[in-house]
Amino acid sequence: MTPFILFSLLACPLVSAKSRSFNRTSVHHNSQPRITTNSSFVSAAWYAAWHEDDFPPAVVSWDKYTHLTYSFAVTTPDVNTLALVDGSNPEGLPVFVDTAHQNGVKALVSVGGWTGSLYYSTAIGSAKNRTAFVKTITSFATKYALDGIDFEQGIGCNAINPNDTSNFLAFLQEVRADPIGRNLILTAATSIAPWRGPDGNYLTDVTGFAKVLDWIAIMNYDVWGSWSSTVGPNAPLNDTCASVDNQQGSAVTGVALWTAAGMPVNQIVLGVASYGHSFHVDPHDAGNDRGIINAYPPFNASMQPSGDEWDDVPGTDVCGNETGPGGIFNFWGLVEQGFLTLWGTPAYHTTYRFDSCSQTAYVYHEKTSVMVSFDNARAFSAKGQFIRETKLRGFAMWEAGGDLDDILLDAILLDAGKGYVLT
Ligand SMILES: *[C@@H]1O[C@H](CO)[C@@H](O)[C@H](O)[C@H]1NC(C)=O
Ligand SMILES: *[C@@H]1O[C@H](CO)[C@@H](O)[C@H](O)[C@H]1NC(C)=O
Ligand SMILES: *[C@@H]1O[C@H](CO)[C@@H](O)[C@H](O)[C@H]1NC(C)=O
Ligand SMILES: *[C@@H]1O[C@H](CO)[C@@H](O)[C@H](O)[C@H]1NC(C)=O
Ligand SMILES: *[C@@H]1O[C@H](CO)[C@@H](O)[C@H](O)[C@H]1NC(C)=O
Ligand SMILES: *[C@@H]1O[C@H](CO)[C@@H](O)[C@H](O)[C@H]1NC(C)=O
Ligand SMILES: *[C@@H]1O[C@H](CO)[C@@H](O)[C@H](O)[C@H]1NC(C)=O
Repeated sequence: MTPFILFSLLACPLVSAKSRSFNRTSVHHNSQPRITTNSSFVSAAWYAAWHEDDFPPAVVSWDKYTHLTYSFAVTTPDVNTLALVDGSNPEGLPVFVDTAHQNGVKALVSVGGWTGSLYYSTAIGSAKNRTAFVKTITSFATKYALDGIDFEQGIGCNAINPNDTSNFLAFLQEVRADPIGRNLILTAATSIAPWRGPDGNYLTDVTGFAKVLDWIAIMNYDVWGSWSSTVGPNAPLNDTCASVDNQQGSAVTGVALWTAAGMPVNQIVLGVASYGHSFHVDPHDAGNDRGIINAYPPFNASMQPSGDEWDDVPGTDVCGNETGPGGIFNFWGLVEQGFLTLWGTPAYHTTYRFDSCSQTAYVYHEKTSVMVSFDNARAFSAKGQFIRETKLRGFAMWEAGGDLDDILLDAILLDAGKGYVLT
């Protein structure tokens, strides 16, 4: 047994951390912010259906959300069919929607996702296909009593066509012209920079999308990870304060790019992460003699640590590429594995640093050489403050089940929600 595992077992509250995290109904109840139905503020999260056994709809903190998005329905080779796979299923979705509606929360389904968007391009690739796909989407929304649809592009081997972006706009316009589609909430989860046009450059005018989408959620996470050349922040709030090499995108630059292209701030929701990425960092690279973690240390990619119980196991992705462990730690996983206490604060024997530029946290455990870049309550508060000051529409968290006792959710709500939220 490694010292680290021993340490985890000895720190006895950790054993109950996960089960406690799955009964959030008993914690903080009635004392925390409630969203007013009159508010236009968006307090949203994605609900990963494949975690439903551990995190069933019954334990979602519904009273703190305005919108929950069930993930994923996937495109198929047949434009007339959407599939519910990988834990999303025709039995689970109605339970999710009913529970949302009983709690006055809007229920959306995300179409696509990292591995589910292989056939987007062809589904919207011709006028005939777009018309068929509008029917597919609106019938699906009707069948499952959905309030809206979220669109998300994904992995690198998807069919692509230089006209994808204009085809997507034409498709959305056709959804809006449809008597059912007109009343749906339509959202898109986007990259930090605007979509690319047929010339491969970022669109400079997204006002057409602003007319048909209710909002976009900028997925400001996975900015650094196992594929990067050094350790860096998973979800930087800011990077304009970093050295040029380390400017890989942030909430600040994402909002600047999208608004410069014409997306109004009140149609931008900030995507936030309830998880972090781990790296194997040699102790002499990790910090200085006072234990302070270096900002962008090198890591050994061939020793990718495994994350928590929800982490991807090594395998083959839908593109046929070999993949190692994902190395993802959910916020509760950092507690369970001894990096953080039950209160989400750094555990004894863990080196901790809060990076003032990215405004995100790092923890390091020297015995195992595992460093994790993640968001804690302080990072979520900073993002909440940014949302309020920038007058964004709100936030959307990937994923609802990653939090522990609403430590992250309460932090962002209390900061972002001032002026929108009744306490
Ligand atoms: C959660 O905890 C409360 C009180 O501790 C209990 O009444 C409730 O049944 C629990 N819910 C679940 C889903 O276990
Ligand atoms: C809804 O919110 C707006 C803006 O805060 C306020 O002016 C209005 O009175 C509210 N309406 C109701 C019914 O509470
Ligand atoms: C239209 O959809 C079908 C599958 O339903 C696909 O085979 C075809 O390639 C699509 N057309 C275009 C132009 O993408
Ligand atoms: C892209 O759109 C242009 C203009 O509508 C059209 O001429 C061209 O054939 C399209 N390209 C593809 C690959 O569909
Ligand atoms: C981002 O960094 C720049 C440069 O240091 C600074 O001027 C700006 O206030 C920062 N913005 C936020 C939201 O932290
Ligand atoms: C990375 O880890 C591998 C496997 O343990 C080891 O062989 C290699 O020397 C390490 N690389 C560096 C730069 O430390
Ligand atoms: C995965 O495979 C695709 C096609 O086979 C390739 O283009 C892509 O670069 C690969 N992605 C990674 C991350 O290796």
